[in-house]
Amino acid sequence: MGLAISVFGLGYVGSVTAACFAHMGHRVMGVDVNPLKVEMLDSGRSPIVEAQMNEMVAETNRACRLHATADAASAVCNSEISFVCVGTPSLANGRLDLSHIERVTREIGAALRGKRTHHWVVVRSTLLPGTTESVVVPLLEECSGRRAGADFSVCYNPEFMREGSAVSDFLHPAHTILGSKDPACLVPLRQLYQETSAPLFETSIPVAEMVKYVSNSFHALKVSFANEIGTLCKQMGVDTQAVTNIFASDTRLNISPAYLTPGFAFGGSCLPKDLRALAYKAKQLDLGLPLLSSILPSNLEHIQRAVDMVLATGKKKISLLGLSFKSGTDDLRESPQVLLIKRLLGEGCQVQVWDQDVTLGRLAGANRQYIEEVIPHIGSLLSADLAQVVSEAQVVIIGTKSARSEDLACYLLPNQTVIDLVNLDASRRPSAPAFYEGICWS
Ligand SMILES: NC(=O)c1ccc[n+]([C@@H]2O[C@H](COP(=O)([O-])OP(=O)(O)OC[C@H]3O[C@@H](n4cnc5c(N)ncnc54)[C@H](O)[C@@H]3O)[C@@H](O)[C@H]2O)c1
Repeated sequence: MGLAISVFGLGYVGSVTAACFAHMGHRVMGVDVNPLKVEMLDSGRSPIVEAQMNEMVAETNRACRLHATADAASAVCNSEISFVCVGTPSLANGRLDLSHIERVTREIGAALRGKRTHHWVVVRSTLLPGTTESVVVPLLEECSGRRAGADFSVCYNPEFMREGSAVSDFLHPAHTILGSKDPACLVPLRQLYQETSAPLFETSIPVAEMVKYVSNSFHALKVSFANEIGTLCKQMGVDTQAVTNIFASDTRLNISPAYLTPGFAFGGSCLPKDLRALAYKAKQLDLGLPLLSSILPSNLEHIQRAVDMVLATGKKKISLLGLSFKSGTDDLRESPQVLLIKRLLGEGCQVQVWDQDVTLGRLAGANRQYIEEVIPHIGSLLSADLAQVVSEAQVVIIGTKSARSEDLACYLLPNQTVIDLVNLDASRRPSAPAFYEGICWS
């Protein structure tokens, strides 16, 4: 026996959600403020133009598993789960317009006032992290006079379908994400999604909300990146298609999770230099490539973030673990750690540096020349004694993964501030200091 489901908002997401759940054998009631959409769905016609929708809506409506109404209260009372799929458009200034969410939440809340059995409210509309817990839950509690978690449950279940292949994306998703405060409330949702073979992630509501934005911004970034690369190729007389085909064939470093872990800025002898060369070439060709041109400024901003974090502690005795741009190498050219030290020295900090891979006497060629130009007295800051470098600091900056966690645990003092730039694995993070902060994670 299927579940009884109400779906609020019969736009792209709501219509597809309603039709697909009905197709999977559940009894679905669609709800919309637009009478035309209600009338269409209730008479077996799809309110949207989308592959497979006409057949699916007609078939499930004939089988009496898909109907629609404008009556929110009866839809809530006659269902166990309400999916919220109303629009969240942009206001003129870019801010998210929550008026539809607020209205539908009030309507569902008012209907819950009279409902005696437990109800699930599942938000599918795209909402900024924190919105479900700070707007939807309080409004539901206010309008229902009941308590979230006890009388009803609220979950966040983002939708990743693409228009044009929405039904197929719904039935065969890449993953299903269920955000909740209490995983125990997810029982009926696990049941609903058990037919899709995709991996199911159970997480907090803000994480589920954020994953949707991260996915969409990454997709947009990829489109713009491909277009800027294509533009550059065309202007330089290079075969765009050949370049992108070969580029995409590398699933180790290019189309992969590589370089997608938040950490410190990039550096070294290649990335900054090569980006500069491309940006300069684009300028020569009079091409506006704002995405490619913004990568180096974004990287510098990240180094500035580290400087600001250190300065915000108000402490001046700083130790940096890791000097080269990557552990396991002594290449200091354009190392962001080197730039960080330079900035901190300029701010009057006393800096000590430990790096097991860097010995000044062994540096040669362009590498030696670089460090001598940027920080001529680097030799007086470098020490091979980790215990001494750590114990004499007020702030310890972890800029390498090569310092052993046992050593850190041994040498760090509880009154020290630890700033992690390299995203140490949680099990390797020091537990002793009173204050640990990641550069872009908490
Ligand atoms: N379109 C997509 O491909 C897509 C994909 C994933 C996520 N999303 C997100 O899903 C949400 C919905 O997107 P959409 O494209 O389906 O929106 P849409 O504008 O096509 O549809 C929204 C529907 O909600 C209805 N509505 C508004 N207030 C209502 C109320 N109080 N009660 C009942 N119905 C109400 C509107 O009449 C409309 O039919 C948005 O947050 C969007 O960002 C969209």
